[in-house]
Amino acid sequence: MDKIIDGKKISSDIKEELKEEVRQLTEKGISVTLAVVQVGNDSASTVYVGNKKKACEYIGIGSLSYELKEETTQEELLSLIKELNERKDVNGILVQLPLPKHIKEDVIIKAISPEKDVDGFHPENVGLLSTGQKGFVSCTPAGVIELLKRSGITISGKECVVIGRSNIVGKPMAALLIREDATVTICHSKTVDLKKVAKRADILVAAIGKPKFINSEFIKEGAVVIDVGIHRLEGKKLCGDVDYDDVFDLVSAITPVPGGVGPMTIAMLMKNCVESAKLKNE
Ligand code: GUN
Repeated sequence: MDKIIDGKKISSDIKEELKEEVRQLTEKGISVTLAVVQVGNDSASTVYVGNKKKACEYIGIGSLSYELKEETTQEELLSLIKELNERKDVNGILVQLPLPKHIKEDVIIKAISPEKDVDGFHPENVGLLSTGQKGFVSCTPAGVIELLKRSGITISGKECVVIGRSNIVGKPMAALLIREDATVTICHSKTVDLKKVAKRADILVAAIGKPKFINSEFIKEGAVVIDVGIHRLEGKKLCGDVDYDDVFDLVSAITPVPGGVGPMTIAMLMKNCVESAKLKNE
């Protein structure tokens, strides 16, 4: 097993598999189309949305792009979602977060048809995941599971600690690890003695949102460390939630930033889009 988990290579393998799958679907007359909606022009969101559209193009998934102005009202956005829900040629709908403050994210997420919710954020899909049923799963945590599996890392029976309890990463991450028969602990900003709890982990997932927060004092020797964070330091260099150089000698495997979890999120989004098209045509 390689010590550095290569998310770039693994995501590229997945994209090749999906490309072939889309080719076969096209032969059967089934098309795959993702609608991508961005409100306002948050610069990070523009980069993410651009990468998603590029991945669609590479795999052969059609993409429809909606770039709405910052002042767009909640009603206007809801009416676009209604139109996309009804369109037979659209399999997936992605509304890039964060949304401007005057729009309620939970209202928007709930308005997306669960069958087209390729982000896996709709409460129906969240409920299906937490009860162990089939549904769309949030792409970043799904990507983490895929990284572990394709790197030959056993999850079953392991002590897993997830740091972060967001709806997009921490909570679905814990649900997925439970589904894989791990023993799971979720930590967050109020956890007493975070270092002690983190040190129990055979697999540590860091999704805290603080650059280089996790150093060697949080790590058990031989642990697998998955870094979900991405931060731009002064001088433009990227880093994660983990102090990579400080923990490297201690761990048995680790994801780098960039090139670890990041590319997997998009690969899993593409996988959900293909899945959605297949389900519609079953
Ligand atoms: N903003 C940050 N990550 C995500 C994501 O996975 N999906 C959407 N829609 N917005 C995001």
